[in-house]
Amino acid sequence: MKIVSSLADLRTARLSLDGTVGLVPTMGYLHEGHLSLVRQARAENQHVIVSIFVNPTQFGPKEDLSNYPRDLERDLSLLRPLGVDMVWTPSAEVMYPSGYQTWVEVEALTNPLEGAMRPGHFRGVTTIVAKLFNATQPHKAYFGQKDAQQAAVIRRMTVDLNFPLEVVVCPTMREADGLAMSSRNKYLNEAERKAATVLFRSLNAARDLYEGGERDGEKIRAKMKELIADEPLAQMQYVSCADYDSLEELDAIKGKALLSMAVFIGKTRLIDNFVLG
Ligand code: PAF
Repeated sequence: MKIVSSLADLRTARLSLDGTVGLVPTMGYLHEGHLSLVRQARAENQHVIVSIFVNPTQFGPKEDLSNYPRDLERDLSLLRPLGVDMVWTPSAEVMYPSGYQTWVEVEALTNPLEGAMRPGHFRGVTTIVAKLFNATQPHKAYFGQKDAQQAAVIRRMTVDLNFPLEVVVCPTMREADGLAMSSRNKYLNEAERKAATVLFRSLNAARDLYEGGERDGEKIRAKMKELIADEPLAQMQYVSCADYDSLEELDAIKGKALLSMAVFIGKTRLIDNFVLG
């Protein structure tokens, strides 16, 4: 497993990879969710590149970039047994050279949900992902369904900018009690960790309503809000029952829908989602 940092080393190493390349972009502090993306990339490509870069431009001014968990040695030891060809760990100076002023922005799709709560977040994500695509020239790139809006926005960007690659979205990995795996889970204390299952529980309750024939978007949102309100350590930021493609809120569910939510458990902001239909 080659570990490269500079753009020059990345380019030389990339040229030596003959055949299909799968890219797994990450911000490090890897968990089973990331490793499942790597395994799928490994199964579907001749070579696998993992990038590890905590991207400053996708953090808002009130989001603590300096406290984002980092442990490169641990990440590398998790990746080594998975047959990864190359890990790219660029510095902020490589990705955002002095005087930087070029951005990639997807429009309407980034307005609701996470985009509404985290202004500028998706501009940072699409800019860095476009730069990772340019530098690594993958045939396929792997993202998790847990960040459903991110996956939709990156799919849109890939089509709009004619990137010659396939975006592969892999299922959310969960703990035994249903909590979606996330690097942020490590911030939860014991009581918060138990309370955090409210996201999964409320998504399940909403899905049960849907499977029982309910198609009223407001009733489905109300069910999720009710369960979150019942959990003393939880503070809802948003719940949504939206059209799967446009991410617009639905009055009535007709086709595929995305149930999603952001909930603070103590100071930790968690997101989760289910796809219906
Ligand atoms: O999902 C993430 O970890 C990040 O948003 C990504 C896609 C690696 C871009 O920094």
